[in-house]
Amino acid sequence: MPETREIGSEELVLGFLAEAGDEFVSGEVISDKLGLSRAAVWKHVEALRGHGYRIDAVPARGYRLREIPDRLTALELRPLLGTHDLGQVLHCFGEVASTNDLAKQLAEEGAGHGEVVIAECQTAGRGRRGRGWVSPPGRNVYFSAVLRPELPPHRAPELTLVAAVALCHAVRRAGVDAGIKWPNDLVAGDRKLCGILTELAADPDQIQWVVLGAGVNVNATAADFPEELRGSATSMALERGQPVPRALFAAAALTLLEEWLDRHAEGGFAAVRDEWRALSDTLGREVRVLAGGRDLEGLAEDLDQTGALLVRAGGRLERVHSGDVEHLRTR
Ligand code: BTN
Repeated sequence: MPETREIGSEELVLGFLAEAGDEFVSGEVISDKLGLSRAAVWKHVEALRGHGYRIDAVPARGYRLREIPDRLTALELRPLLGTHDLGQVLHCFGEVASTNDLAKQLAEEGAGHGEVVIAECQTAGRGRRGRGWVSPPGRNVYFSAVLRPELPPHRAPELTLVAAVALCHAVRRAGVDAGIKWPNDLVAGDRKLCGILTELAADPDQIQWVVLGAGVNVNATAADFPEELRGSATSMALERGQPVPRALFAAAALTLLEEWLDRHAEGGFAAVRDEWRALSDTLGREVRVLAGGRDLEGLAEDLDQTGALLVRAGGRLERVHSGDVEHLRTR
């Protein structure tokens, strides 16, 4: 069932506990700050326990959040979000065909900037160029954000590069050494961790909406991937050797995504380009580019001011605006 909710007292109590991390927060502080009675705080803590949260309660010290359930609902995500727009309206589902399809439908129906669709599982997850996206239940993070940027349509590809920077930071913060493979895949040791699919509707001079969808392999095991992908796909858990709390990761990813989108809105692509370069796993490598029937091999030298990849091939500097890149030698 879809879930789109206003923030309630239970979530506010949870927000306090989440913000305190491993520290105790006294019941008095929570009740003062939220204008609730101590009995009401206790009732919310009990309700949260009933939803699967593990919360310590120690006399004279207060409450401490021990563990959050491995679920992606508004109750888990909202208190962890540090955003002004992104995810403030959340559409959470157990199963959908594709979060991008649903977000596109919502955008067409007038969804506002920042609305996010997130699902535990996709039955028809889509990748770039008509490919599928493996989306098993309860393992990974699949989300799509509706954006309404003040941009002409030809600048839409910048948003995907911005998202790659944000998600790369989110993955690295969780202790996984990821890099960006042009244009917007995240890889760890040459295996794919995350893909981004951006779709849009536009007038000649102005984007109407963009749906920015991301699939991050968070806790997938090797067995979750079909055999033909096992050599080329990985997950954060496989890379770091232990599972990642998905709600924490998803909230961090959305928070960082908004931070980087804000920088881009203020400073244009120039405000993001150097960071993309610093996180890139493609620059400085020999690559094969498959772009619209054009097969190119050469050295990936740089990213230009529009987000195009500059490849030195046969003495010429080629500008590649879209396509797939293959890294030819492992590092
Ligand atoms: C790619 O690398 O080919 C892009 C993959 C994008 C997958 C995500 S999962 C969430 C969103 N919904 C979809 O159907 N696709 C994107």
